[in-house]
Amino acid sequence: MLESILLIGSGGREHALASNLRNSASCNRLWCTPGNPGIGRVAEIVDVDADDSEGIALWCKNQGVSLVVIGPEQPLAQGLADNLRSRGIDVFGPSKRAAALETSKSFAKEFMRRHNIPTAPFKKFLFPDEGSPQNAINNEAGTKAVTQAAMEYIDGHEMPVVIKYDGLAAGKGVVVAETRDAAERAIADMAHGAFGDAGIVIEGFLRGREASVFAVCDGTNYVVLAPSQDHKRIGEGNTGKNTGGMGAYAPVAWFDASILRKVINNVIEPTIAGMAAEGNPFVGCLYCGLMIDDSGNPFVVEYNARFGDPETQAVLTVLDADLAALLASAARGSVDTSSINSTARGVAVNVVLASAGYPDAYEKGHVITGIEEAEQDASIRVFHAGTKSRGGETVTDGGRVLGVTAIADTLDEARRRAYSACKTIDFKGKYYRTDIGAVV
Ligand code: AMP
Ligand code: GLY
Repeated sequence: MLESILLIGSGGREHALASNLRNSASCNRLWCTPGNPGIGRVAEIVDVDADDSEGIALWCKNQGVSLVVIGPEQPLAQGLADNLRSRGIDVFGPSKRAAALETSKSFAKEFMRRHNIPTAPFKKFLFPDEGSPQNAINNEAGTKAVTQAAMEYIDGHEMPVVIKYDGLAAGKGVVVAETRDAAERAIADMAHGAFGDAGIVIEGFLRGREASVFAVCDGTNYVVLAPSQDHKRIGEGNTGKNTGGMGAYAPVAWFDASILRKVINNVIEPTIAGMAAEGNPFVGCLYCGLMIDDSGNPFVVEYNARFGDPETQAVLTVLDADLAALLASAARGSVDTSSINSTARGVAVNVVLASAGYPDAYEKGHVITGIEEAEQDASIRVFHAGTKSRGGETVTDGGRVLGVTAIADTLDEARRRAYSACKTIDFKGKYYRTDIGAVV
């Protein structure tokens, strides 16, 4: 079947999704909202408000859209997939309740406990409800009591501990506390509403190597894509602040077949079966953020209910598949494994070009040059993340600006090509890590 697809989102992940959808034999027409200048080269940008599910549904009906693909977590958290499905539109993306695997850390942790899925030990702490009729003094006393209980829990455990905000926090709600003081500070910050008033989860620190695995799910069955590795810290050698991700590569050489088998048996299959058994079948991309210990055993660090960013830019670059057919089949409840030839042809490296200052304050509006020149090399794809058009030029418009992606037969060659393209592209304040794919 030929698909007419509406893609929702505007980042580097959506640019990667858009280019693979565009290159799918089964994709007839592709729209994107809100999109970005890079996506505008492969999809028709439309102006339908992503927060207005009624408006999107109406627009889809009018245009004859056969499939909606939802990129980011916010619309999933708001129930966009449910609203569209209830109007008879096929959607690749989980329901609001299934997306709780990502939107609520405590739901995810309790789910894993119920289904024996390996993860770090944890305890959940709720703050006094800001919206309740309690007065501010009661809230302050309540917050103090919760903080004390949390500190007592921490005292019973080895350091470091990991403190996580229990709601969406754009990747910034996680603190690995090495000391008791740092833990207390993190709890106080979260208690005072740094992100909201959803409470916290405190969990044990997992040691090992991190990897991300995506499963394209239809509620019952799944297809696993190439394992990837994200580099979350801003600085060389995995140092400094956490970011949305400074680069990624796929597949990961050390992630061998025996590790994959354990991930499938101990994580992916029980997660999909557990969600279905609880009445929340997961349709969409199940992102398993994993820690693999020295014996090759996987533990879940986090779930996301969508494709990862920037891993997707690497994973889809090596994927040999009709992505439109794959996602449409999953959305319709029978994921089509025949739409995939290979989960990884070669190795892809994605290097994020960021604005100086990111993840803190940074400047916007600087002219970007060299993208077309870099793309003269057929092995290079430059994904736009934070850009906009201004009078015929492309200018910087975000912390993460571009994802420069190269594919080659080996990791070393992919790295060489990606970094050569990173030098060709320029803008004022360009910053990137030089060790993407070279550190674990
Ligand atoms: P999350 O948003 O839950 O993925 O956490 C962000 C990052 O913090 C992860 O990618 C890990 O590097 C680190 N992290 C989170 N939880 C743990 C844990 N239990 N043990 C070790 N590192 C963790
Ligand atoms: N790369 C991490 C994420 O997408 O959440």
